[in-house]
Amino acid sequence: MNQQQPVWVVILAAGLGTRMKSNWAKVLHRAGGLPLIEHVVRTAIQLVPPDQVYVVVGYQGDRVREAVSSYGVRFAVQTEPRGTADAVASTRSFLANCDGLLIVLYGDTPLLGPATLRRLLAHHQQSRPAATLLTMTLDDPTGYGRILTHPDGSVRAIVEERAATAEQRRIRRVNTGIYCFDNRKLWQFIHRIQPNNPAGEYYLTDIVELFDSAGLPVHAVELEDPTEALGINTRIDLARVDRILRERKAKELMLAGVTIEYPETVRIDVDVQVGQDTRIGPFAQLLGKTVVYEDVEIGAGTIVKDCWIGRGAMIHPYCVLADSRVEAGAIIGPFARLRMNCYIGTGAAIGNFVEMKNTRFGPGSKAMHLAYLGDAEVGAEVNIGAGTITCNYDGVRKHPTFIRDRAFVGSNVTLIAPVEVGPGSYIGAGSVITDPVPADALGLGRARQIVKEGWAKRRREQQAASATPNTNLEPPEGCSTQHT
Ligand code: UD1
Ligand code: MG
Repeated sequence: MNQQQPVWVVILAAGLGTRMKSNWAKVLHRAGGLPLIEHVVRTAIQLVPPDQVYVVVGYQGDRVREAVSSYGVRFAVQTEPRGTADAVASTRSFLANCDGLLIVLYGDTPLLGPATLRRLLAHHQQSRPAATLLTMTLDDPTGYGRILTHPDGSVRAIVEERAATAEQRRIRRVNTGIYCFDNRKLWQFIHRIQPNNPAGEYYLTDIVELFDSAGLPVHAVELEDPTEALGINTRIDLARVDRILRERKAKELMLAGVTIEYPETVRIDVDVQVGQDTRIGPFAQLLGKTVVYEDVEIGAGTIVKDCWIGRGAMIHPYCVLADSRVEAGAIIGPFARLRMNCYIGTGAAIGNFVEMKNTRFGPGSKAMHLAYLGDAEVGAEVNIGAGTITCNYDGVRKHPTFIRDRAFVGSNVTLIAPVEVGPGSYIGAGSVITDPVPADALGLGRARQIVKEGWAKRRREQQAASATPNTNLEPPEGCSTQHT
């Protein structure tokens, strides 16, 4: 056993993913809220430092790089997707002259955990064969390379589904696509692989037979839980892996003291954090980098993406919140929408059918029904009446609205931005506010009501007296009429 041997990891992510039927590279598709390749990179860097990880990119390489470049991994380029062996060979100039071990991972197997990789590595370091494969046994091995073994259990060859005979297809032990190689031996043999298979590709799996013919042993370590190496080739595989990631996340949170009603219905991305005694209703979705503190209520069907939700906040059912911060004890919804950098202060309340965009809403303020606040700064203890609208867009530019502390904005007020409503002021219902309202003033901007005594009664009497209804009647005030 030689613990000192350096270890590199190569992750193959250059393929098109034809079976996905997609314009996007397969490894960019998401499961558990992250691109597939990101899951694999995260696992790899738990095993070796990031600068010992090479991601092989090709199809949509720039996008794949962008998805994982923040981890500090390195990249190699496969110019044409000529198969998995060719993809590994694209790291030749970086790795071919190194002593040590090379672990190959496929970018389309995102459930793999670091403990399994450590087990594979430990076996290899102890026995030192030319290669150690991770294998698994499946009830339905369709699509995977089948493992052919010698009587002593060592591996003789891997035969790909498309090249397999009917008998070989019945073999249920398959290749996971995860290998540990003696690096020198890999580079000694990889160029001998030929594309003589129905797909015309250079199959990395063919190296096993080459090693075997040269008398070099190939070992296999069997995976205990085959779900860990589920490879994604179709959208059906993607949905299956996504469901497994969500189940894992829900279980992890429930064990940490979060209540989840009907956990099979919720969607919680892998990076989401949720505090103890928070309750999550059916069909809720917590996405991206959302952080939810303790004792929060997330109502049924509510979607929260990249938000920070403070302790004891109550998010009623069917709200949609994105890129916003909700302070402790605030109450939101049902049916509310916050987007683009909203800030909701401590104990504030936002009711049904209220939308806020890029708005700061101070502590204790309330907007309980049917309002739109965009690019607004609302102070503390403000009341926003039902139907209040900020007119923040003039067709070209967005303008701010300032509503200072303790202002009372009546129902159905239209605030034409830029405009300021002073502290402690009062805006009459139905006003259109175009000019600043000073502190403690009343702002009123609406037409005066008129009352015509007895008008309705006279109209009814005229209708009753008329032989043909709806003729010769006094028209309602303000209506044009053909009668002169
Ligand atoms: C591969 C294995 C198969 C194994 C299965 C496990 C081969 C020949 N077959 O089949 O034995 O059971 O994975 O999931 O290796 N890639 C490149 N460049 C290429 C081709 C592929 O980078 O030219 C990358 C893909 O982006 C993908 C990975 O390699 O991440 C695997 O390719 P894929 O086409 O999915 O191989 P499988 O048919 O699944
Ligand atoms: Mg695959």
